[in-house]
Amino acid sequence: MAEKAVLQVGDQSIELPIIEGVEGERAIDITSLRSETGLITYDPSMGNTGVCQSEITFIDGDKGILRYRGIPIEQFTQSPNFVEVVWLLIFGRLPKLDEITPFSELFTSNALLHEGLRLQYNDIPKDAPPMAILSATLNSLSYYHQELLSIEDSKSFMQAAARLLSKVRTMAAFAYRRSLGLPFIYPDPQLRYCANFLHMMFSQPYQQFEVTQEIEDALNLVFILHADHEQNCSTSTVRMVGSSQANLFASCAAGVCALWGPLHGGANVKVIEMLEGIHSGGIKPKECIRMAKDKEEGFRLYGFGHRVYKNFDPRARVLKEACDKVLAQLQVNDPLLDIARELEELALEDSYFVDRKLYPNVDFYSGIVLRALGIPTNMFTVCFSIGRMPGWIAQWKEQHDNPNSRIQRPRQVYMGPKENNYVPIHKR
Ligand code: SDX
Repeated sequence: MAEKAVLQVGDQSIELPIIEGVEGERAIDITSLRSETGLITYDPSMGNTGVCQSEITFIDGDKGILRYRGIPIEQFTQSPNFVEVVWLLIFGRLPKLDEITPFSELFTSNALLHEGLRLQYNDIPKDAPPMAILSATLNSLSYYHQELLSIEDSKSFMQAAARLLSKVRTMAAFAYRRSLGLPFIYPDPQLRYCANFLHMMFSQPYQQFEVTQEIEDALNLVFILHADHEQNCSTSTVRMVGSSQANLFASCAAGVCALWGPLHGGANVKVIEMLEGIHSGGIKPKECIRMAKDKEEGFRLYGFGHRVYKNFDPRARVLKEACDKVLAQLQVNDPLLDIARELEELALEDSYFVDRKLYPNVDFYSGIVLRALGIPTNMFTVCFSIGRMPGWIAQWKEQHDNPNSRIQRPRQVYMGPKENNYVPIHKR
């Protein structure tokens, strides 16, 4: 017999079904609440509200667990293969060899941008924020590939997904090249996914950038760790936009806009700016901890805290280890890593952080790895977008394929003026 919740309001008592997830998470199904009681619930930042049932990613915030289609993320770290994880997230299982090869070839054949779009970069201001360029150019896929605006079958879905996943790299690299006034480097069909992105970022017309296995593995790992994270702000945005049956390109472009915020994907930029400020300003990490605790200071310890993780973000653990490995392999000595470590140590001993269960999150160490790979700070959230693209697509598809999906339309509690009348301007 399914468990039920009993809601007593005045002399009315109703029973609401409780649904249970495969990992034991339980939810009160309130889909009948308003029709039965006239009441709605109130949960402004939706921290207590489930908006969907999903089979893609599982997070246990108390135990610091993150699994993609049931596989713990730690198991992808040995020989990280982002394209394989893309398939896993979108199609629900690991790909077979005869699937992954044509899938990779789809990325190769879709890496170029329409020449019209490439020429548009010439008119973009050189100091344009790369995330603004990315959301705009992703949206332009809605007019360059109008045949993929309505996705009626698996073939058109695959074509649309391949264009997003492949071209997002080219769009990002071209934004970087534009910002430096450098010639654009076209994708090289001989290179794998991550190597091709680094080639487009750092090669010169007269010299191919050498992508070592260490660098390629490190970027595969960074993208894998960012690939999906259940109903975070940007993914919820993609689902919200997609729930109106807006096309996949527009939905993912909206995801980029949500990810840009400094409380979300933009935090990886803020972390490095914070660490650089500490380093160049000679600020003691102890002073940072003090400022982070004093609300008057308006100082946030970026890269710390998480709405779901009330324990270590497992991605931060993996990235912290990757920092050591990658910096040693590349013979990079980054003083910001030492500062990050000291801040983490001080925070984890401080009751302000311990009591609020504020631990390092994915953004705290990711920037240090990206810096070691030569990626500039203003491109960090763009790299987060490339990593998160498969998650957005997988979650959009899960909703799109669900015949019971309806447009998302939350309610509100109105606190504005009571009814009153229009006053002509000469009487105001
Ligand atoms: C990502 O949702 C996801 O899954 C996101 C993400 C993903 O993969 O998609 O994991 C990626 O966005 C990671 C988070 C990156 N953001 C940051 O690092 C920004 C710094 N962190 C915070 O702004 C904050 O922790 C959030 C935004 C991450 C979470 O915000 P919540 O859940 O709304 O928590 P809150 O702001 O209500 O904080 C609770 C308390 C407050 O203090 P009190 O009012 O209780 O006294 O903790 C304090 C906050 O002031 N606090 C911090 C802090 N984070 C929270 N104090 C100092 N420094 C911080 N970083």
